[in-house]
Amino acid sequence: MAQKRITIAIDGHSSCGKSTMAKALAKRIGYAYIDTGAMYRAVTLYCLDNGMIDGDKVNKQRLRRHMPKIEITFKVDDEGKSNTWLNGRNVEKDIRGMEVSSKVSLIAAIGFVRRAMVEQQQAMGRNKGIVMDGRDIGTVVFPDAEFKVFVTASAQVRAERRFKELQSKGDTTTTFDEVLANVVERDRIDSTRKESPLRQADDALLLDNSNLTIDEQNEWLYNEFLKKVK
Ligand code: DC
Repeated sequence: MAQKRITIAIDGHSSCGKSTMAKALAKRIGYAYIDTGAMYRAVTLYCLDNGMIDGDKVNKQRLRRHMPKIEITFKVDDEGKSNTWLNGRNVEKDIRGMEVSSKVSLIAAIGFVRRAMVEQQQAMGRNKGIVMDGRDIGTVVFPDAEFKVFVTASAQVRAERRFKELQSKGDTTTTFDEVLANVVERDRIDSTRKESPLRQADDALLLDNSNLTIDEQNEWLYNEFLKKVK
């Protein structure tokens, strides 16, 4: 009998390996994968490119007017990797840098930005068979998702992972302490913001992967998935 197709919501702290495990699961079970953090990052890049952010101030009036002009899509490249596109331009690399990382929490805290993103995310998941990762997927975007996971790891471990990733991408200027400070600051803003603060849904499974390898966490996720579709 064909397995039923479900909605999978993976939420958690920043840089805890959510995307890695969500992507691997989606590939293994033939589901679509959506990285909702990339959407908030793309809006942030748009704001930076258009001079809408000054220090920690966002020109919300201008941004609100520009929202209908911001088109975010995902396209799979020749290597099978999903890339984020913003208004016809591949921005996958630009949205992962420190400049966007240090401003994205400001943008993700704005109510009208969140409402626009959530609407698009709900449309993408309308037919189920989707793995979506973010902060509010199990609580706001798909509160009825059949399988919810909340992922975390210590701030030190998450900063180490993020630092390695930046270095592997050729960033030689960002220091470890800057990365750690960014992780801690994003946790604070994400968990204390008024709009959809980061929190574990009551029916989400908790995974602390501080001491797990990527393979171990992938196996854990796959086995929990199998229990849900049995
Ligand atoms: O997962 P990430 O680090 O790429 O997310 C970037 C930022 O976007 C992060 O500060 C939290 C925010 N975000 C959010 O508020 N809601 C989501 N569903 C996904 C990300």
